[in-house]
Amino acid sequence: MLKVVAEDAGAFYQHYPRAAAIVTVTYGGRKNAMAVAWHCPVSFAPPIYGIAVAPKRYTYHMLSESKQFGINFMPFEKAETIASVGGSSGSFIDKFTEFNLAEDRAIKTEVPILKDAYTAYECRLIDNRVIGDHAWITGEIVAVHIAENVFKENGILDLNLVQPALYLGAETYCSAEKNSVKVLDRDKFGRR
Ligand SMILES: Cc1cc2nc3c(=O)[nH]c(=O)nc-3n(C[C@H](O)[C@H](O)[C@H](O)COP(=O)(O)O)c2cc1C
Repeated sequence: MLKVVAEDAGAFYQHYPRAAAIVTVTYGGRKNAMAVAWHCPVSFAPPIYGIAVAPKRYTYHMLSESKQFGINFMPFEKAETIASVGGSSGSFIDKFTEFNLAEDRAIKTEVPILKDAYTAYECRLIDNRVIGDHAWITGEIVAVHIAENVFKENGILDLNLVQPALYLGAETYCSAEKNSVKVLDRDKFGRR
């Protein structure tokens, strides 16, 4: 593939697509939700999840104080909800009321769990460190909410039943094409 080389990452969209998710928090009697595309698992045992949240977000303040957060993985048909909570600040509005966000009850924390999510983690804060213009926040996953039957026996998402919301940058969303699935056994393809 012919490439041009630059030293500046520019709009920084090269690494997409990534799952667009919604982080939820509660603090001081208020709830809030924000979109995140910068997030990933960082440890199996214990299970730890990381999210990059800019300190200027209202969510950051609530999360830093409450020391817990939820991360909600959304189906593609709810991409508008992601754009809504990612396009407004909890410092001005109650996003749960404004965008009719329905909730399921958390079991180990107080964070809101979104009814429309096909899976969600409840996390307790482990670490919060500012790196550049974001904070890298890690939390131990203390509870997992899973929609019935959408994961196959081997634990992977059944794309026939749920298409995940993915983000491409520049306000552009897409999903995973079920006919693109390949199963490639690493023991067969790799070299030990
Ligand atoms: C698709 C999408 C992905 C986003 N990803 C992140 C992210 O990973 N980290 C972040 O700090 N902000 C991210 N944002 C921006 C916040 O969601 C946005 O600033 C939001 O309004 C913050 O809400 P709050 O002020 O109520 O916390 C994203 C926005 C969108 C639309």
